[in-house]
Amino acid sequence: KPSGLGLEIVATINKLQDVFTTVGSSATQIDLPQICVLGSQSSGKSSVLENIVGRDFLPRGSGIVTRRPLVLQLINRPASAPAAVPPKANGDARVFISAVMAGLSIDNHLAQVNGAEKGADKAANPDEWGEFLHLPGEKFFDFNKIRDEIVRDTEAKTGRNAGISPQPINLRIFSPNVLTLTLVDLPGITKVPVGDQPRDIERQIREMLMKYISKPACIILAVTAANQDLANSEGLKMAREVDPEGTRTIGVLTKVDLMDVGTDVVDILAGRVIPLRLGYVPVVNRGQRDIETNRPITYALEKEREFFDNHPSYRGKAQYCGTPFLAHKLNTILKLHIHNTLPDIKARITQQLQRFTAELQSLGGPLGDHNAGNVVLSVITEFTSEFRTVIDGNTNDLSLNE
Ligand code: GDP
Ligand code: NA
Ligand code: MG
Repeated sequence: KPSGLGLEIVATINKLQDVFTTVGSSATQIDLPQICVLGSQSSGKSSVLENIVGRDFLPRGSGIVTRRPLVLQLINRPASAPAAVPPKANGDARVFISAVMAGLSIDNHLAQVNGAEKGADKAANPDEWGEFLHLPGEKFFDFNKIRDEIVRDTEAKTGRNAGISPQPINLRIFSPNVLTLTLVDLPGITKVPVGDQPRDIERQIREMLMKYISKPACIILAVTAANQDLANSEGLKMAREVDPEGTRTIGVLTKVDLMDVGTDVVDILAGRVIPLRLGYVPVVNRGQRDIETNRPITYALEKEREFFDNHPSYRGKAQYCGTPFLAHKLNTILKLHIHNTLPDIKARITQQLQRFTAELQSLGGPLGDHNAGNVVLSVITEFTSEFRTVIDGNTNDLSLNE
């Protein structure tokens, strides 16, 4: 089971979090990456995101369904406890370090989601809700209502006839079962205008997507349907434009279940078609019929596991296939990112400390306890070294498609 997190690390992160909360300084915030989905229309982008989040709430379906960017901030919030310091609402993924803890337990999260839905108890969980930026103060405990509101506001701003708009919908989901980070669902790349779409629809959508995927902190999930030719993948082409080294692009192959009998994605996974540094993950999402019959996400994850476990081409490598592995891969990338960010946070705190000390002296010498800053620094140092152990133990996680 791919999980590299020792309990001491959780304890250390908790400690860090406590100290940071006490200090309450913006210097202790970590810029977590945003995760964006990129690909052709109906390649399965919204489905992939939904499976990662583990809740049903995104409009999905054939044709152009996602017509505005959806900036989705997941905010981990312990059950029945007061909310932590809320991240800024602008979707730039600046989150408090409490995020880190949740970010490290996505496997647990998936297990919890599975368990919760199995209870067949559809009653709303009072600890889980959504809030839209355009409807301040209104809490959505019913995730179907969240989907309805996304559809309603999309139509309000773009009409009903396939129009598109770069104006994002901002949604925050508070839950004990999510990792704190920002995901962005984007309209698909399309070439031929339909309905009310402008004649230069392709250019307009590309511009819209570029705004998100060109940010260096954006992790790109380049989604391609496995029943199409990879060489024609618009998502991969665009990802390569902004990330030529492939350091932040993960290939996601959807619809593996729809491939012709006797064909598979083994050559792609092995890097023999279009190699990607971070590799590809094949997934199976719910089909259109599953959407129409309201199949829950648990069903999707079970079906997916069954598919890879039993397929002659994949069963030998089933642990490297499917949504849980994709989540794990993302998790590893996030860990690396946080690890790489810590020295900078440390430098910022040192700087602040020096400034405050100087200020104190200019005001006539130190008063009270100026030890707090040093405590923070020693905790970070401790954290960094423990963290390195975890990362070093997992370096093979990022090159799994051999
Ligand atoms: P998007 O336009 O890229 O966001 O794609 P959606 O997530 O809305 O999915 C488009 C259509 O493809 C829907 O009818 C989905 O049910 C279907 N779909 C997506 N992924 C898969 C998959 O892995 N297998 C099957 N059979 N259908 C899928
Ligand atoms: Na679609
Ligand atoms: Mg979509």
